[in-house]
Amino acid sequence: MEIISNPTVDEIKGAARALKNGHLVAFPTETVYGLGADATNEYAVSRIYTVKGRPVNHPLIVHISSVSSIENWATNIPDYAIKLAMQYWPGPMTLILPRKEIARNFITGGQSNVGLRVPSQTIALALLKEFEELGGLGIAAPSANRFGAVSPTTANAVEQELGAYFGTKDLVLDGGPCLIGIESTIIKCTEDKPLVLRPGAITRRMIQNTIGDSLEPIKSFETSRASGMFLSHYSPRANVVLNEKPNPGDGFIAIEEFDTPIDTVRLMAPIDSTQFAHGVYEAFRKADLLGLTRIVIIPPAGDDLCEAIIDRLVKSSGHS
Ligand code: TXA
Ligand code: MG
Repeated sequence: MEIISNPTVDEIKGAARALKNGHLVAFPTETVYGLGADATNEYAVSRIYTVKGRPVNHPLIVHISSVSSIENWATNIPDYAIKLAMQYWPGPMTLILPRKEIARNFITGGQSNVGLRVPSQTIALALLKEFEELGGLGIAAPSANRFGAVSPTTANAVEQELGAYFGTKDLVLDGGPCLIGIESTIIKCTEDKPLVLRPGAITRRMIQNTIGDSLEPIKSFETSRASGMFLSHYSPRANVVLNEKPNPGDGFIAIEEFDTPIDTVRLMAPIDSTQFAHGVYEAFRKADLLGLTRIVIIPPAGDDLCEAIIDRLVKSSGHS
């Protein structure tokens, strides 16, 4: 595996060729780093599952370069989904839509729906455009971590997670730290109304403002699909607990205005929810690097992004 820092246009073209030849390319997005493969190449996609150690019935998000590519992959697209796509793509939002044949069972986990996203990160978009120039239709990319572990928000973290599992011709594109830091909002668009399966930086209020309608309450797809089999998700090795009294030696995460409890290790002191989301996964990695056994977190409160952050904190604490 080769890591390419701040890739040039030629290097991005090379990465697109590597994808077309069936290799894996990890790349930055505005949310977290993705582990990419040609979404129409069954063998390449099977390697994503091997490298991640992920159960094969878990569907993958197909990344495309623009709204206009939506029709390659999806059919019977509801009007509200078109509105959302027009408003928030490129951006941190995944739409689950009725699939076309090109979205095979090895992408959708055998379901009749496909997840699509147009990322806004410059390198990701350039890679998608170059890939399409070569005749590619989409890049399947889950977060570039081992199954159940913390999503990577830096190329270094990708290497820590997956370095031991990559092949010699696989690539990692290093575009620096991800802007947002937590995964995209996933919205199921197969019924009369959209359903948020995973909250993210495209908040419920934003969705409501766009479709002018009220949303169903959030149901956690990721938990229901795993049906209790995988208790930990987004988890560091350290035990994550929320709102508990810290013991000496614990890691501590809270917004800046909370003082660091005595004898604890302050892992992060973000000024607001945006900084909290941006830094939380790196703070988890830091805790593991320091060999901490417990992280006490005071979740942020106050704005719409907090819903997504709290979702991840609760999941990383092993509860659902
Ligand atoms: O921000 C993100 O979404 C990142 C970046 C790389 O784009 N990707 C990401 O992928 O978080 P992943 O695979 O780690 O999480 C995607 C979630 C999984 O829980 C998967 O089961 C669900 O989306 N998903 C994907 N396709 C689906 C589908 N057709 N129906 C229901 N859920 C789906
Ligand atoms: Mg993931």
